[in-house]
Amino acid sequence: MQSTEPNITLRERIETLKREKNAVILAHYYTRPEVQAVADFLGDSLALAVKAQSVEADIILFAGVHFMAETAKVLCPDKKVLIPCPEAGCSLADSCDAAEFAAFKAQYPDHKVVSYVNTTVGVKALTDICCTSSNALKVVQSIPEKQPLIFAPDHNLGSYIQKLTGRQNMVIWNGACHVHEEFSLEKLLALKREHPQAKIIAHPECRAYIVEVADYVGSTGAMLTYCGESDASEFIVVTESGILAEMRKRYPHKTFIPAPPDDETCGCNNCRYMKMVTLENICSTLERESPAIELDETVRRQAERSIRNMIAIQ
Ligand code: 13P
Repeated sequence: MQSTEPNITLRERIETLKREKNAVILAHYYTRPEVQAVADFLGDSLALAVKAQSVEADIILFAGVHFMAETAKVLCPDKKVLIPCPEAGCSLADSCDAAEFAAFKAQYPDHKVVSYVNTTVGVKALTDICCTSSNALKVVQSIPEKQPLIFAPDHNLGSYIQKLTGRQNMVIWNGACHVHEEFSLEKLLALKREHPQAKIIAHPECRAYIVEVADYVGSTGAMLTYCGESDASEFIVVTESGILAEMRKRYPHKTFIPAPPDDETCGCNNCRYMKMVTLENICSTLERESPAIELDETVRRQAERSIRNMIAIQ
């Protein structure tokens, strides 16, 4: 655990660098609380993609995982998009290699492709329309019911949307998020018995048996809104634990209890990739203006179409 003193110095240095370089920091809710504190904009995957396209600064530093910074670069090719930790991947994006996906897609030539933004730019280039957990239902519903679909790469989200829409003509890629797959139903129900008044709120990347017992299912941004609007004062939160910082900040009079993963010693309700972004690597990345995201222009343009198709319907 770091002492507060170096954090204050680092925070000041980061603020100075942002001003000097006309840079903004976009951060996802799953990052460390001290990283969220230096962000100019904090959001879920959809809000961050929408925000990226209207940023006026010269530099965007993306405090999040690799696919998020890539999405910002796809939308803002003329800006410098910095990623403090290029090794910060995503188990979902890693589960769907673009070449393998191209071969899979070739087996279903009459299917339209809906891909989660948690994919590489190569997979987005093979996609008709992207979605995030906030808008997956809306995106799928925007496609005529008779049109067969490929949904990639999150199997849990795909199955959840299939259940909500009753749509049978959906082929779903078998990928999963290493954080959301780990929650234990038994431990969740035990926690609910200890806190009978608490509402269970879950991310749709969780397994079906978790989603079934949840009082509310939604993206990180939607969960935050729900906690504010709900009369309940206690919530059991079944998603990555980084979101708790923003929940407690926004609603200090309410109680938020993190749901335990199956193996409580593994710290699996922490995304190890999101936690790789630190004040130290943000500061050095801003100083050096590197590493920056670079993309092949042909692939970028193809990927941009699928992201813009999503933003058009949000
Ligand atoms: P949202 O930001 O849409 O909630 O999803 C976060 C995410 O990437 C989960 O893996």
